[in-house]
Amino acid sequence: MKFKVITFGCQMNVYDTGRIERYLVAGGHEAALTEDMADLLVINTCAIRDTAESRVYGTLGRLAQFKRERPGRLVAVAGCMAQKEGVKILKHSGVVDVVVGTMAIPRIPSLIEAAAAGLGPQVNISRSEEDLFDEPEWIEKSFSNEEGERQRIQRYPAFISIMQGCSKVCSFCVVPYTRGKEVCRPPEDVIAECHRLVRQGIREVTLIGQNVDSYRYEGVDFADLLLRVSRIEELSRIRFTTSHPKDMTPKLIDTVGECANICESFHFPLQSGCNRILDAMKRDYTVDEYFEKLEYIEKVFGSRGQDPFAYGISTDLMVGFANETEQEFEETLEAVRRARWDSAFMFKYSPRERTAAYRWEDRVSEEEKSERLARLIELQESISLALNRQAVGRVAEVLVEGIPGYDPEQPLERIKARTRTNKSFSLNLPEDPEGMPSVGETAYALVTDCKPVTLRGEFVGSAVTV
Ligand code: 5AD
Ligand code: SF4
Repeated sequence: MKFKVITFGCQMNVYDTGRIERYLVAGGHEAALTEDMADLLVINTCAIRDTAESRVYGTLGRLAQFKRERPGRLVAVAGCMAQKEGVKILKHSGVVDVVVGTMAIPRIPSLIEAAAAGLGPQVNISRSEEDLFDEPEWIEKSFSNEEGERQRIQRYPAFISIMQGCSKVCSFCVVPYTRGKEVCRPPEDVIAECHRLVRQGIREVTLIGQNVDSYRYEGVDFADLLLRVSRIEELSRIRFTTSHPKDMTPKLIDTVGECANICESFHFPLQSGCNRILDAMKRDYTVDEYFEKLEYIEKVFGSRGQDPFAYGISTDLMVGFANETEQEFEETLEAVRRARWDSAFMFKYSPRERTAAYRWEDRVSEEEKSERLARLIELQESISLALNRQAVGRVAEVLVEGIPGYDPEQPLERIKARTRTNKSFSLNLPEDPEGMPSVGETAYALVTDCKPVTLRGEFVGSAVTV
C-alpha cells in the first residue's frame, strides 16, 4: 500500500512518525508523496491540550470523503490520542480502521494487514516496554524515488529518542498517561542510531526525551551520554531537549561548555513565574531556583549582552492555571522580563482528563486566559526582537538546513540555516554559486536584519570544515 503519515504535536511525535514510516516500509508498503496518492493515511496525534485534540477530530472529519473516493483506503490513528482514547476513537469518527498506541508502533504493519484483509477495526494500545525503542531491520534504501528525495530534504532536525515516557507528576500534564512511565534507552543504542544517521550524511542530531536530565542507564547519566555522543567526530552539532529545571545539573551545563560540538542551547520550561502556581503544578522548584540555573549558564557561557550568540535559552509558559490571579500572572510577566528568553512556547491551561488538576475548579474564564496569553506573547515577542536586534552586525556560525531547488518549500532566493543557539537564520543566495554551502555544512553568516523569530543576512567567509 502507498501510505502517508500526518504528524501533529511535539518532537517525540515527529520521531515516532519516522519509526512508523520505517516499520511500514519494512512491512512492504511504500511512502506516497501526497495524501491524494495514498491508500493508507496514518494520523499521528497529540493530546496535550484540548485544541490539539480538536484539530485531530477536524482532520478525521474530512476523511469520510478520502475513503469514499477510493474503496479499500484505510485510516490509522497513532500517537497520544490513540493511546488515551483507544476504541473510543472508532466510535467517535466512524472512519478509523486501526488505532495504534504510543507503545505499540512495531505492531502497525500487522494491524494494517488484518484491517486490509477485512477483519474489521484493529486496536492495539498495549504497553510493551520491549517495543519502545525497537527499530525494524534497517533498510538502507528505505524510500523510493520522490519520497527518498523528501527524506533527504527533511533531514533537519534529526531527532533521536533517548527515553520514552515521563515519571514526573506535573498536575496539569497528560503525558505520563499517554506515554507511560519513563524508560531510558541503552547508551549503545543511542550511539548506534547516531552512527546510522551519520552514514546518511547527517551532521546535526537532537537527543529528545520528556525530561532528558533524568536520563539514567546503569550508572550513565545524561551528561555522560552527551559526552559519549560528542565523541562522534562527524557530528558537528548536538542538541537536546527538553530539560527539567529541577533536574538540570551543573555537570550537564559544564559538559555542554566543554564539548565543542554540543550546542549551548537550553530549552527548560519555567511554566509560571509564581511560586504558589509552581507548587500547585508539582514542578518541584521555585522561581529563584530556576534563575540560579540561568545564572550558572551565564557564568559558564558569558553574557549575551556582550555576545548575543553566547548561549540560547527558551522556555514553555502557561497562563490561567490553578485559578491564577491577575497578580500571579504578572509574576510570569516579570519572569519574562528577568529571564529574557530567546523564545517561548506559550499556552492557555487546558484541563486534561486523568490529571490531578482535572477535578479542580477552573475559575479563570476562556476570555481571561486569551487576554493574558495575548499580553504574554506581546511581551515575549518584544524581548525576542530586542535580542535579535542586538545581533545585527554580528557574525554567527550557521548550519545550512535547506537550499532552494533542494527544498521545494524554500523560496528561490533564500537559504534556511540555524545558529548554534537555535535561532533560525534566513540567508541571501551568495552571488558566486561556488561559494554556496550544501545542506548539513556549517558556515559563517553576517546578521543584517531580523524579525522576532528569524535572523536575516548573508554568508561571509568560507564554510567551516568539521
Ligand atoms: N494545558 C496547557 N498547556 C500544557 N502543557 C502541558 N500540559 C498542558 C495543559 N494541560 C504545556 C507545558 C509543557 C508543554 C509541552 O505543553 O507548558 O511544557
Ligand atoms: Fe508533563 Fe511534567 Fe513530564 Fe513534562 S515533566 S512531560 S510537563 S509530567
